[in-house]
Amino acid sequence: MCGIVGYIGKREITPIILGGLKRLEYRGYDSSGIAGLKAHNLHTVKSVGRLENLESDLKEEQFDVGFGIGHTRWATHGEPNAVNAHPHVDGECTIAVVHNGIIENFEVLKTWLEAKGHKFESSTDTEVLAHLISEFYYTGDLAKAVRLALHHVDGTYGLAAISKNEPDTIVAARQGSPLVVGMHDEERFLASDVAALIEHTDRVIYLQDGEMAILTADDVRIESIEGESLESEEIQVTWDLDAIERGGFEHFMLKEIYEQPNAITNSIRGRLDVERGTAVLSGLNMDDDEIKKIKRIVLTACGTSWHAGLVAEYMLEEMTRIPVEVDYASEFRYRKPIVDEETLVFAISQSGETADTLAAVKEAKKLGARTLGICNVVGSTIARECDAGIYIHAGPEIGVASTKAFTAQVSVFAMISLMLGQVRDKFKERRQAIAADLAKIPGKIEQILSLNDEIKKIAEQYADRNNALYLGRCFNFPVALEGALKLKEISYIHAEGYPAAEMKHGPIALIDKDMPVVFIATQDRIYDKIMSNIEEVRARQGRVIAIATEGDAWIGKKADHVIYIPDVDPVLVALLSVIPLQLLAYHIAVCRGCDVDKPRNLAKSVTVE
Ligand code: G6P
Repeated sequence: MCGIVGYIGKREITPIILGGLKRLEYRGYDSSGIAGLKAHNLHTVKSVGRLENLESDLKEEQFDVGFGIGHTRWATHGEPNAVNAHPHVDGECTIAVVHNGIIENFEVLKTWLEAKGHKFESSTDTEVLAHLISEFYYTGDLAKAVRLALHHVDGTYGLAAISKNEPDTIVAARQGSPLVVGMHDEERFLASDVAALIEHTDRVIYLQDGEMAILTADDVRIESIEGESLESEEIQVTWDLDAIERGGFEHFMLKEIYEQPNAITNSIRGRLDVERGTAVLSGLNMDDDEIKKIKRIVLTACGTSWHAGLVAEYMLEEMTRIPVEVDYASEFRYRKPIVDEETLVFAISQSGETADTLAAVKEAKKLGARTLGICNVVGSTIARECDAGIYIHAGPEIGVASTKAFTAQVSVFAMISLMLGQVRDKFKERRQAIAADLAKIPGKIEQILSLNDEIKKIAEQYADRNNALYLGRCFNFPVALEGALKLKEISYIHAEGYPAAEMKHGPIALIDKDMPVVFIATQDRIYDKIMSNIEEVRARQGRVIAIATEGDAWIGKKADHVIYIPDVDPVLVALLSVIPLQLLAYHIAVCRGCDVDKPRNLAKSVTVE
């Protein structure tokens, strides 16, 4: 999605703003731009496509030192071209604006402004903002003009505005789209994502909805959009620069796949209690009586996080016997969901910024449910909006295709299942066995990662296919969905995940000698059933790639390829069985020459509905 960077201080603005935009590249974009002063006049440079294009266009440019704003755009209103790219300026070229989000009433505002003589060049909603602010700039006070303009705006925004008449100020405002301010000596930074700032500072303030920030080089004032002065909480960011660099790996996705043992270790550290078969999760902020009163659990999320929710559904129902429902966040909010004070609603989101998931949280709160965030990004909007929650501590995830966040989310839900099960006095011995297995997961993932070369060879044989089918049952059904999603996201091969038995009700019609079918066939209570499904595929000449449990000699006779994973309690199997599928998708995409970290049309964090 779109990214914002702002800088005010005494240094050259181009390297700082461009550097920040590069850190946001992973969020997805189609054009970019930067605005600052050149010989005291407002000047913008905008380019379509990759940031390298902007970088090369900036080579001949010399901005005045001091302040500037930059943007990477992911088109919503108006096609991706240089005119529609941000920053946008008003008619007199006095004010420049960058904006994330959607101004819903921009057509009405545009008509009103046109009647007052404003002329527009682009088809974006953001240009309307620039003109609207200029309309209210009669007082010569940018903060005041932004405030007055925003009173007329419906929709969502994270925005930054500068004026050539106030070269010592950046004005930012937030409603539904994240913004964070960074402080360092006599410099201030602004960004839509903390990754753009951590090269310069670890001291940040997250803006909240309805807040404005007025930045000067040595100060930040936080005010409400109504104009009252507000206290702000300074947070120290713990992610360091290494965590957001590739560190010798060809792609962030591969690095993050390899980081999974570490990510899971961090997610369970200080929480998992193997001896008692439970976990200490103070973030849930619930006492035993409250836990005993829970009648129903709803899990809501999007994308890969939704798949983690599906695994969690199986885990929670098995270990706590509380009924669980998993909902796409985008569906939850519009389908009049039935939740009340006795329902726990978990919002699962790596970024903590996904617009639909945030809206689902708000809906659940309105209906009286207790909301809990399972987020990776500390201080993110969903984490703040929820009543309480647990961070997954996976470290920054940059690759658009989520990997380590998925396994860290699942490991957190394994602990939640243990904890709720313990309070409700269920399955003590089983819980102890699962807790002991969970502690060993990082080592078992290391073992699977050592099969990378073997998996790469399999990938090379299937990189030219147009379709693929992923089948699994029980805990491995969501893994089938996740494996298929990984493949389609980054290699553009059409892939479907299905519960293995459902194959007979449709996908079997697609099977022929060109169709690779990935079976996640680990040993569990329905192993025999999935073997029958493998036979059905073989009978139709489908090619079988099986993910199986170490020691399973039989499957080797049936499948064309077998990738063995260590044995584990079925409740935790998704944490292992997903790893070969991530590697398979990765290597197929690399073989096809795809841009693995920045797949076409996708964004890391989807902050529009
Ligand atoms: C986008 C990303 C996915 C992610 C999904 C949900 O589609 O490309 O990787 O799973 O959003 O994101 P969240 O940050 O809420 O987990």
